[in-house]
Amino acid sequence: MAILDILHFPDERLRRKAKTVAQVDDRIRQLIDDMFETMYDAPGIGLAAVQVNVFERVIVVDISEDRTQPLALVNPEITRLDGVEEMDEGCLSVPGIFEKVKRADAITLKAMNRDGVQIEMDADGLLAVCIQHEIDHLDGKLFIDYLSELKRQRIRKKLAKHQVSAASASRKVI
Ligand code: NI
Repeated sequence: MAILDILHFPDERLRRKAKTVAQVDDRIRQLIDDMFETMYDAPGIGLAAVQVNVFERVIVVDISEDRTQPLALVNPEITRLDGVEEMDEGCLSVPGIFEKVKRADAITLKAMNRDGVQIEMDADGLLAVCIQHEIDHLDGKLFIDYLSELKRQRIRKKLAKHQVSAASASRKVI
C-alpha cells in the first residue's frame, strides 16, 4: 500500500476525463487499496482516481466515523436521480474550502466492485452526495464549478495565497 499525492485545484489534470476500466485486475485492486490508504490518511470520506493523477473510472468512499464502510466503485454510473439536497461540500483537491452545493438526495447506480462483480445499489443523503461528487471528478468536474465565477476566483486567490490544510477544522472532506 502507498499514500499517493493528491492534485490540487487549479491543476489542469483535475479537468481530464477518466476512461472506462476494461477489467478489474490486480493493478486496479492495488490502485483501490492505495486510494483507500490515501483517503483515510488525508483524512477524507471520498476520493476519485483522477485526484491522484490516474485517469481511470475508479472511486472510493467511506462515510462512516470509524472506517467500517469502505466502498470501492469501478465504472460507476448513476441510473436514477431523485430529490434535491443542499449540503456543505469540501474536497481534498480544494483544501480548506467549504461551500453549499445542490445535488440529488437519492440515487441508484451500477458499478463493478473490487472483485469485478457488477453491482447495483441505492444511496441517499451524505452517501449519495459523496458518490455524485466523486463521479464528477471522473468527468473532470469539481464542486466549485457549481458556484459563481466570482466565488471561484476568490477561492483561486485564497488557495494561491496560503497553503490551507485539507483536514482543517475536522470537517468531512470529499
Ligand atoms: Ni473531491
